[in-house]
Formats: sequence, C-alpha cells, structure tokens
Amino acid sequence: MLNVKSIAIDGPSGAGKSTLAKRLAEALGFRYVDTGAIYRTLGLMAFRKEVAPENASAVAELLYHQDIRLDYDKAGAQHMYLDGEDVTDEIRRPEVSRYASGVSAIPAVRNFLLSMQRDLAKMHNVIMDGRDIGTVVLPNADVKIFLTASQEDRARRRYEDLRTRGMDTPYEQVLADMIERDHRDSTRETAPLRQAEDAVLVDTTGQQPDESYAVLLEMIRRKLDA
Ligand code: DC
Repeated sequence: MLNVKSIAIDGPSGAGKSTLAKRLAEALGFRYVDTGAIYRTLGLMAFRKEVAPENASAVAELLYHQDIRLDYDKAGAQHMYLDGEDVTDEIRRPEVSRYASGVSAIPAVRNFLLSMQRDLAKMHNVIMDGRDIGTVVLPNADVKIFLTASQEDRARRRYEDLRTRGMDTPYEQVLADMIERDHRDSTRETAPLRQAEDAVLVDTTGQQPDESYAVLLEMIRRKLDA
C-alpha cells in the first residue's frame, strides 16, 4: 500500500469548494478530484439519452452501456469524457446540474462511482471535493473540511461563475435552482450531504477567496504535519 494522503472537502453548491480545492491542490502538490464533475457527466448522459433522472432502473441500465472516464491534462486540470467525447465544459450547464442532482440520488449510481473515487485516492495524494467524501467515500481521510456559506453568497458566486462561462441565467433562477438542488442533495436516503463528525466546519460567508484559501492552507498544513 502506498503512503498517500487524502483531504476531503464537502459542502453545498457554491460554497467555493472547487475553486479553493484546485488552488490548495496546486500549493500542496496533490491531485484535485472534482467528484461533482463525475456525477455531472452521468447527468449529461441521462439528459442526452432523454432518460428522466428519477428513473432509477433506466439510469442504472445506461451505466453499463456508456464509457465514463476521467483524465488529467498536462496542466493538471481534470477532464471528463463521455464515450470518448470531452464534455468538461458542457457538464456545467444549469440543466445538467439538475440532472446530476437527480441521478446522484440513485443508489446504483453511487455504488458504481464509489470504487472509481476510492481507487483515485489509493494511488495519489488527493484533495477530493463533493457531498459525501468525508462521510462515505474516504471516511479515513487525513483532513476533513465542511465548507459552507450563506445561501445568498453561494447563489451569487454560482451566478458569477455561470456568467464567466458565458451563461446568462438570471440571479433569481440561480438561487431557486440552488435551493432546490441543495434540498434534494441533503434529504436523499443514500449518502446525503452532511458534515462528518470529525470534519472542521469552515464558513466562507463574506470572505474573499484569498482569505478562505489562506485559512484552509494553514489548517491543512497543520493537520498533515500533526
Ligand atoms: O459539486 P457539483 O455542484 O458539481 O455536483 C453536482 C451534483 O452532483 C450535486 O447536485 C450533487 C451531486 N454530487 C453528489 O451527490 N456527491 C458528490 N460527492 C458530488 C456531487
């Protein structure tokens, strides 16, 4: 067994998980694994096949007929592939977010992805973000963080992120979608979004990304050295 370290970051959408995890991974020399992107790829798969995300048996059936792959480019950025096509940008679309949240409630989907996520953490030092990393995927992670922020802050960040990506969804729509998605993600039966008992709660409300980054980096270094 390799001597590898893992850092789990969970929290609701828009808390800043991916932006911060990416920077932290760079600073620490760890690999960043965005598990939401994997669920989004499965959401896109259902969307394209016109399968309702609530239709558990039809979605589960699709899993075994599609090739879902994750890879890293030379700069270390994660890319998602669906049947060989790079879908890294497309999975960010708001309709895919809804499908991703829907399919992620299906136990067969979560099971299917569990070994893929665990295998990544067996081979590399990883910083992995998602909803159930500290509770289910990597219960023995060396550092666990639960990242959150007020609903308004999170919706504003998501809104700005979508605009940067060229998608002009109204703020009210972003907020409403986010509330609905967070509710679904935290009330589903299998691996709902929740803070692990041994996770450190970090609230980034009102903070600039640089501030949150500095706090997290210091905390992680301290815990890894302990
Ligand atoms: O982090 P994100 O917004 O890209 O995730 C998209 C959806 O995937 C989210 O609504 C919930 C689901 N998800 C999950 O259930 N478990 C994870 N570990 C990561 C994401």
